[in-house]
Parts: sequence; C-alpha cells; structure tokens
Amino acid sequence: MITLGKKIKMSENQKIILQRKKEHLELCATDKVAFKNKSTGFENYEFIHSAITEVDLNKIDLQTNFFDKIISFPFLISCMTGGTSEADNINLELAIAAKELNVPIGLGSLRYAIGKNDYDEIFKEIKSSSGNVPILANIGAAQVCNSESFFDLQKLRDKTFADIFVIHLNPLQELLQPNGEPHFPKLISQIEKFVKEISIPVIVKEVGSGISAKDARIILETGVKGIDTAGAGGTSWAGVEMLRNEKEMNDYFWDWGLPTSHCIKNIFKLKKRYQFLLIGSGGINNSIDVAKALALGADLTASARIILQELNKNNIDGVVKFVKNIFEDVKKIMFLTNSQNLDELRNKKLIKKKDLI
Ligand SMILES: Cc1cc2nc3c(=O)[nH]c(=O)nc-3n(C[C@H](O)[C@H](O)[C@H](O)COP(=O)(O)O)c2cc1C
Repeated sequence: MITLGKKIKMSENQKIILQRKKEHLELCATDKVAFKNKSTGFENYEFIHSAITEVDLNKIDLQTNFFDKIISFPFLISCMTGGTSEADNINLELAIAAKELNVPIGLGSLRYAIGKNDYDEIFKEIKSSSGNVPILANIGAAQVCNSESFFDLQKLRDKTFADIFVIHLNPLQELLQPNGEPHFPKLISQIEKFVKEISIPVIVKEVGSGISAKDARIILETGVKGIDTAGAGGTSWAGVEMLRNEKEMNDYFWDWGLPTSHCIKNIFKLKKRYQFLLIGSGGINNSIDVAKALALGADLTASARIILQELNKNNIDGVVKFVKNIFEDVKKIMFLTNSQNLDELRNKKLIKKKDLI
C-alpha cells in the first residue's frame, strides 16, 4: 500500500464529508450495497453466435478514441472518492493501474477540495503516477448549481490536471443522505453555464440510478460531450446511505432506478442527432457485461465498486490483470460473433432471450 504523509487542517464541514467518504469506502468494499431485486438487464440478451466467423482473433484492436487521446481498451476507472489519506492512496494506486492499462482515471468528487490548497501535492502525485492517461475531475450537481464555486472549480481543473470534468447527478443519494442537499435549482441552465466556463469537455453521469433518454437529450442540449449511464443493477447508493444511517427506511428506494442496459440502448438512439461519447456503467462487473454494454451501443464501459474490491484483494497488479482478462474474453466474444472491430460488435450482435424460443 502506498502512503501519503501530509496532515491536513480541516473545517468541521470537511471532517463530516471525509467521514462520510470513509464510510462509503468501508461499505463498498463489501457486497452488502448491491441492488437487491433489480439487475442491469444484460441477462435479457444473448449474443448471436456466428458459425461462419472470419475474424482474425490476433488482429482485433480494442483501441478507442477518448476525447482525442487513444486509450488501449474501451474502459475507464469510474470516479471514486478522495480527500482522506486512505482514499488518496486508493486514487494513487488506481492512477498507477490506469497508466499500466492506458485507460482514463476518474477522481472522486472534489467537493472536499473546493477553495483549498492542501491537496495540491496529492493531485501532483496522481498526475505523475498516471502518466499521460486522461484524468477526470468530478463534482456534484449541487455544487454546479452554485455559480460562485465556478472560479474554484476552474482552479481545481488546473490543479488536478483534468482533461475532462465530470458532473455527477445523485438526487436519490442526496435525498437519503443525512445533511444531503436534495435541491438542484436551475440545474440544466447551470450545467450549460458550467460547460461554457470550464473550457474542457464535460461528461454528466449518474451514480447508480441511471439516466433516461429523455433526460440525456436535455443534458446534451447544454453542450455536454459525454453521458455516463451509471444505471441500476450495480452499486445501490440508496443502499449505501440506508446502511450508513441504520434507520428504518422504505426498502423500495434501495432498488430505485433505470437498469443499465435500458439506459445504454435508449441513449444510444440519440447518436443520430448528437455527437457524444456514451459510457455504459452501473453493475459492469465482468467480460459479458462489458461486451453486452458495447454491443448495445456504449462507446466504452466503466466500473467502480468491482475495481475497488479488486484493489483491496489483489492490489494494483490485480486490477491490471482483472481488466486485461475482461478484454481477452471480450475479444473471444468478438471472434464468436464475427466482429472484427468494436463497430461491428455494435451492429445487431445481440438477440433478446425471449426471441430465442
Ligand atoms: C467507493 C465509491 C465511491 C464513489 N464516489 C463517487 C464520487 O465521488 N463521484 C461520482 O460521480 N461517483 C462516485 N461513485 C459512483 C461510481 O462512480 C459509479 O457510478 C457507481 O458506483 C455505479 O458503478 P458500479 O456499479 O460499477 O459501482 C462512487 C462509487 C464507489 C464504489
């Protein structure tokens, strides 16, 4: 485990945020926070086997263009945490894994660092560990609704060496979280303003409840360049907050949200009208999930909790091996579906299971 030494003076509010982050990390190291009765929906699809495949397995190329940088796999490490020494170590280790894999690294919400210089050294270390891979800075919708923070967010863009800014939408989490801020005044016009002022591409993501095609269209009208589904079926943030609160809560919300497969399939249709990167995430835990997400139209996929768990169990090398193994299997699926490249994999290679009968 890598260790970062510096002690940082914190306000009470910062201490609360960082304690919350610590609890998130502890809970997400387990499977207690998975959806209970809802899945990603990928199990409703099957690949159409091709008996006449002519694909040369050794010539399958998974390289993908990610905002003008070539990455080795259609994959990114989803935004997770930051700010506590443990979380910063995790980011640093994930940055090393991202460099080794040549895929983007998402930093967790930077709310704790707004208006502070204390984390500059950590951001520098993350940059030097991640080499030239794209870095994604991350902030919540609640912060974007406050234009006063834009100046500080621009500073954070520079301090984190961010290539992309990610805004996370988390109404369910804010609703259930103690001291949450379930109010997003003028959210859409604020996103539009932020996109103009931040001057690097912006991605909008959920955190596990998914984004409908109708909402995605409204978001894309603001000039956002990427949509990350973060759909239902993986980590339940309602679940995380319910376990943190240890209070009686209506279990219905635990499984709230649109399944990842539904979001990808329907947001993909917007490609006819808008130019944007579609990231399929939310419960992407193995090679079949990845391949089906790509086949449904995702440009790339992303994972969070499974990566954290792999890091906890098998360190940086484990994460690298895990992702490489996933894509070895994706190549096999491409071979068996006669897909020489990712565009071919996206061309009618899935069938609904009910249609197999
Ligand atoms: C420990 C942990 C911390 C997270 N922190 C953030 C965050 O700060 N910002 C954010 O946008 N998403 C955050 N997420 C949500 C993930 O990026 C992702 O959208 C969500 O967990 C669904 O993906 P999964 O099913 O692969 O975990 C976090 C996820 C985990 C597991």
